Amino acid sequence: MTVEEMKETLKSRLKGSRYIHSLGVADTALELAKKFGVNEEKAYIAGLLHDSAREFENEAMIDEAKKRNIEIGEVEEKMPLLLHANIGAVLIKERYDVDDEEIGKAIETHTVAGRNMTNLQKIIYFADMIEPSRDYPGVNELRKFAENHTLDEIMLEALSESIAFILEKYGLIHPATVFARNELLM
Ligand SMILES: [Fe+2]
Ligand SMILES: [Fe+2]
Repeated sequence: MTVEEMKETLKSRLKGSRYIHSLGVADTALELAKKFGVNEEKAYIAGLLHDSAREFENEAMIDEAKKRNIEIGEVEEKMPLLLHANIGAVLIKERYDVDDEEIGKAIETHTVAGRNMTNLQKIIYFADMIEPSRDYPGVNELRKFAENHTLDEIMLEALSESIAFILEKYGLIHPATVFARNELLM
């Protein structure tokens, strides 16, 4: 499948704003890949398809995950939407004919992060937070921070911001996010 065909399929399956967001993550991931010496094509495709499983409604996520033998953690049980990352990692092969473990991994960790992340995984996690259509308090500071810091410094900042944001809302913090942040600190 060509990138143009991927875009057409994605566009037909996601709502408009989600499709625009996906293009933004792809472009941002490509920029970061150039800057940090990561495979540019993989970064673009991972960015483009990272939210492909958002074609499923929240209510359907558990079933869609079970269908694909995806393990459902206790946090995911309470927040099934998180599973779009795990399902997306498989859906890229099913629907977009992308058979690439590194891209799959990057999609799998784009929401809650994880242990031993590769630079591609870090780039997709961060691109998802700062792509141009993202608009939340602190996003401009995060974009600025990225201009003159290393990828690990950027990740530490992004993970810290993300945890702080969840704490403020009294939300559940996924253990994978804590592991990812502790790893950077240690
Ligand atoms: Fe997502
Ligand atoms: Fe996203």
